[in-house]
Amino acid sequence: AFELWRETTAEERSFLLKKWFNLIMKNKNVIAETISKESGKPLKESLVEVTYGASFIEWFAEQATRSSGKILQSPEKNKQLMVIKQPIGVVSAITPWNFPMAMATRKTGAALAAGCTVVLKPSELTPITALKLAKLSIDAGIPKGVFNVVNGRPQPIGKVMSNHKFVRKITFTGSTRVGKYLMKEASKSVKSISLELGGNAPFIVLDDADIDDAVNGLVDSKFRNAGQTCISANRIFLHKSIHDNFIKKLKEKILSFNIGNGLKNSDIGPLISKKAIEKIELNVSDAIKKGAKILLGGKRHRAGELFYEPSIITNVKKNMKVFKEENFGPIVPIINFTSIDEVIDLANNTEYGLAAYFFTKNSKNLWKLSSKLEYGMFGVNTGKISTYLNPFGGLKESGLGREGSEEGLEPFLEKKFISWRMS
Ligand code: SIN
Repeated sequence: AFELWRETTAEERSFLLKKWFNLIMKNKNVIAETISKESGKPLKESLVEVTYGASFIEWFAEQATRSSGKILQSPEKNKQLMVIKQPIGVVSAITPWNFPMAMATRKTGAALAAGCTVVLKPSELTPITALKLAKLSIDAGIPKGVFNVVNGRPQPIGKVMSNHKFVRKITFTGSTRVGKYLMKEASKSVKSISLELGGNAPFIVLDDADIDDAVNGLVDSKFRNAGQTCISANRIFLHKSIHDNFIKKLKEKILSFNIGNGLKNSDIGPLISKKAIEKIELNVSDAIKKGAKILLGGKRHRAGELFYEPSIITNVKKNMKVFKEENFGPIVPIINFTSIDEVIDLANNTEYGLAAYFFTKNSKNLWKLSSKLEYGMFGVNTGKISTYLNPFGGLKESGLGREGSEEGLEPFLEKKFISWRMS
């Protein structure tokens, strides 16, 4: 399929991708329901995910026709120097359960637009959405074999997908542990690799922040998909002077949440698995043992065994798991600070570097925090940063490369330099 797809023009690919995008939008409700059924996500969030996920296909359909090479100024009169770009080859894409659609389309939209074919392995916990997307791609006229979905156990499939001789590019979203494994496997045949891995996002509220904006921003970031998002606020740093006011307002918000079945108009659904909820329990009990206080929640919710109460934990310290690890659940660990230098040190005290958030009205603080914090993406006075225009990715152990945006096509293209002597 690659041999045929690589020969299509960018316009042909763009046309087919737009048809795919339109079919997805026509089937928006069915896909959103599938996402909620297989992940537990509240339906209103699944609907947002379908629009967000589809936006990558539309964006890359447009970007396909804008990709071009270069003719260089030759230092020699009878020579033309050129750089051309071609699709890198067959792509292995491995995606997680927290965004069954958007993570698949952010990778696949770009790869297909560049002229690559894709073998996608969605999470074994949410395998159906990807199959629906693949069926719609065929209905849109994308030839069979261009976008393929493989479901099953991750280990044997991952091994083939990262070692197979036809594969030239691996693109993965998931844990840092698996990312490191894939990087090692990719090195055996020097395949190109892009990784979007774990995060430990700081959410910083300075003394001059608008507290209502900050509380709303935290709700947007922290409770998206019940906190099961790589860019969810994970450690909440509050300036001592606004601590009590912020907590009072946050508590009021949390108490208004409707927690329950994702298909029944809830604000917060279940966690993905027993393992996920046990991890939250372990991290919370570790925090309590080390001196943290539970201000709200701190236990499973009566809605069912996979539901955890949105929780506020204060007195959090650097040695606690809730500080060091990506919690992936609806818990709000609070840390106090008194100076901007202190909070920069605390926020950078992690091996991760994906997203960070801060709230301030002062432009000097804005510049200092954006330049000193070691993160790839910032929300300033907002908890929402996801859009197809965002070069999505992180620093340090949060990954390699960027997805989406104007840069998102490049990882799927290979450059060739041509020095042409005209005789
Ligand atoms: C993620 O959790 O990895 C992705 C979230 C997003 O694209 O907004």
